[in-house]
Amino acid sequence: MIRKAVLPVAGFGTRCLPASKAIPKEMITIVDKPVIQYVVEEAVAAGIKEIVLVTHSSKGAIENHFDKHFELESTLEAKGKHELLEELRNIIPDDVKIISVRQPEPLGLGHAILCARPIVGDDEPFAVLLPDVLVDGQGLARNDLAGMVDAFNATGQAQIMVENVPRDMVYKYGIVALETPDLAPGQSAAISSVVEKPTVEAAPSTLAVIGRYLLPGSIFPLLAKTPPGAGNEIQLTDAIDALRGQEGVAAYRMQGATYDCGHQLGYLEAILAFAKRHPKHGQGFQKLLARYADQE
Ligand code: G1P
Repeated sequence: MIRKAVLPVAGFGTRCLPASKAIPKEMITIVDKPVIQYVVEEAVAAGIKEIVLVTHSSKGAIENHFDKHFELESTLEAKGKHELLEELRNIIPDDVKIISVRQPEPLGLGHAILCARPIVGDDEPFAVLLPDVLVDGQGLARNDLAGMVDAFNATGQAQIMVENVPRDMVYKYGIVALETPDLAPGQSAAISSVVEKPTVEAAPSTLAVIGRYLLPGSIFPLLAKTPPGAGNEIQLTDAIDALRGQEGVAAYRMQGATYDCGHQLGYLEAILAFAKRHPKHGQGFQKLLARYADQE
């Protein structure tokens, strides 16, 4: 059973400046919800019951978003705005808890995950979702994270979500090498290596790590002894490669679409994808799109 998910949200979001100067980048809106809410909804849809935010003192708005806002709720109630009230009350289901822990220094993604060790413990598998990345499960009966949970339950092996990227983009990602020649969407197979941000020449494939992981608690002792790697940061990828040597790791090829909301064009594409099918604003947005498509 995978019940806990760790979301590292302590980073300053320099790639999203100036939008992220005074608000966390995770609170930037896609249509009518902050990015982080989509990521939490994805985790909840895959059966997660405890969300562990690894955060920073400047990012309290994220915790506030998932907390009860008593004054706002009573104001809405007094004004009879019941629909909006229900929407606010259902941001997360009652049986899902949000817990936070601080990352005292920005020492890398691996270090951020290690900060969750006292909450997750070394004996329980858990998920990691990087909140810059939106994974869109539109049209799938079960989302990709749930598919990874199935693969984990069937094999007991750590899973990392991957997708093909253009060769000239490999330097931005963790890149895996497979033990098998190919991997179909929705399938999972053992990897023979994973390397963080390789050069084009050194990349073993174009299958990039997309920011979703299912890891055993045994990753923590490995993280604790991982030295700084690419960018002089403690890299989760390096600890995962050590885990692979110890007990094997599999790559799960995603079926849905992904948007990198830590990058302006990725964020704009996410708005297009989600706005077009929004139950309230979709039709109006499609008209806007048609109008702007005719203009230079
Ligand atoms: C992180 C990971 C990298 C992964 C990427 C996905 O890098 O270290 O392995 O491919 O997220 O978005 P970052 O984008 O934080 O530099």
